[in-house]
Amino acid sequence: MTGWRPLIAASILTADFGHLDRVVRKLERAGVDRLHLDVMDGHFVPNITFGPDLVAAFRRLTTLPLDVHLMIAHPRRYIARFLEAEPDTISFHVEVEGSDELTAETLRSIRMGGRGAGLAVSPQTPIERVRPFLTLLDLIMVMTVEPGFGGQRFIAEAAPKMTVASSWLGEAGGQGQVHVDGGVNRDTAAVAGHWGADVCVVGSALFQRGQDAADEVRLVRELAWRARQEGMPAANGSLQDLHPAGPMSSRTG
Ligand code: DX5
Ligand code: ZN
Repeated sequence: MTGWRPLIAASILTADFGHLDRVVRKLERAGVDRLHLDVMDGHFVPNITFGPDLVAAFRRLTTLPLDVHLMIAHPRRYIARFLEAEPDTISFHVEVEGSDELTAETLRSIRMGGRGAGLAVSPQTPIERVRPFLTLLDLIMVMTVEPGFGGQRFIAEAAPKMTVASSWLGEAGGQGQVHVDGGVNRDTAAVAGHWGADVCVVGSALFQRGQDAADEVRLVRELAWRARQEGMPAANGSLQDLHPAGPMSSRTG
């Protein structure tokens, strides 16, 4: 696993929506691998963000892969509109109401549209809920915050689900990726890497005042990778060389 590194997907949820072109250029310069677009409908989660038209705007702004994360109550109704925006993947929540057959049908419609299909799993949801759909999945998104807002604390108890998701995706053909989403930054990257994240979604940590986003991207990638290779770092911060400015929490007040 020499060249392997976890990918960094930047969530733009806490970015300045008034200057999206500036945000995208900043993230490209910071070296992120993907953009993570959080769509919320005010029903599935108590927040509202944006729809397919903004995804299409991001498509016009960048060639970075786009991962759409649907936190909406009725994803099936909107898949065609989101497919038109040409993201690279579309994920929705396994918790949405409806039958397993409807969930499978929605996943199939994403794949029929030529996009990667994913299921997101909230922290309280057992990972077993995605088991019936493994052959239809290109990614499993393990949430380490309650969906709905950026800037929340990482829920470490949800992290072990990634190892299960990773082994199941391996059994089902081995191409699928595990995304970890919520509260990932330099202080939690080692936990994310240790439990097997292939893609780390990083949001608010990239938009801290006075904080260099490229630094955060580099730190999260390296800390996650090392923890994956060598196990969790010692409590004494033996990765000090990667942590020049000290833990995140001590600097953001
Ligand atoms: C939360 C979203 C996450 C969030 C990540 O509902 O799905 O993608 O924006 O942002 P941070 O890294 O700030 O938790
Ligand atoms: Zn998300």
